[in-house]
Amino acid sequence: MKLFIDTAKVEEIREAASWGIIDGVTTNPSHIAAAGRPFRPLIEEICSLIDGPISVEVTSLTAEEMVAEARELAGIHPNIVVKIPLLVEGIKAVKILSAEGIRTNVTLNFSAVQALLAAKAGATYISPFVGRLDDAGQAGMELVRQIRRIYDNYGFGTQVLAAALRHPGHVLEAALAGADVATARFDILRALFEHPMTHAGLAKFLEDWKKVQV
Ligand code: E4P
Repeated sequence: MKLFIDTAKVEEIREAASWGIIDGVTTNPSHIAAAGRPFRPLIEEICSLIDGPISVEVTSLTAEEMVAEARELAGIHPNIVVKIPLLVEGIKAVKILSAEGIRTNVTLNFSAVQALLAAKAGATYISPFVGRLDDAGQAGMELVRQIRRIYDNYGFGTQVLAAALRHPGHVLEAALAGADVATARFDILRALFEHPMTHAGLAKFLEDWKKVQV
């Protein structure tokens, strides 16, 4: 399973990139606003930090405008994947963009039939928002399992990108559910490294090693 970092903060992306296990970046308009920097140079810098898919979202609402915006975003760097919201206009835009070879990440996905439509339009990625469904009292990861089954049933190439993950357990569940990608905040990704028994075990090894040093 690929791991993407879900942020537009360059200091977080730089640090996560140094770990050597981050495959891409997902941003959204809220992340861009939180980064507090001019849009284009920010995206260019992010693209220079990770050599992998960098999702950047359109903010227009008609298919025509989304397509124009997507072409512009895709022109910034070859690694840009254009995020398109799961609306009728969005699916129309994805159909046009996929025919042009522009990669898309269909976002704000909350049902498996929505994900079916995204795949039929040729989306590169589908982003089910697991944690937001959990927040609303629904079983978010069940959506990932349903999409996986539908895509496998029909051989769709659209990659399942488990998004809005809230804790390391969500990353585990996404991997068990067969997600192609999990995207998560910096703190969640950092937490994946941790287990108290690793630190306790290492402390004992080093303590014993000291005893044989002269
Ligand atoms: C996904 O690509 C989105 O940027 C993100 O995961 C949304 O998550 P949130 O619910 O934590 O804002």
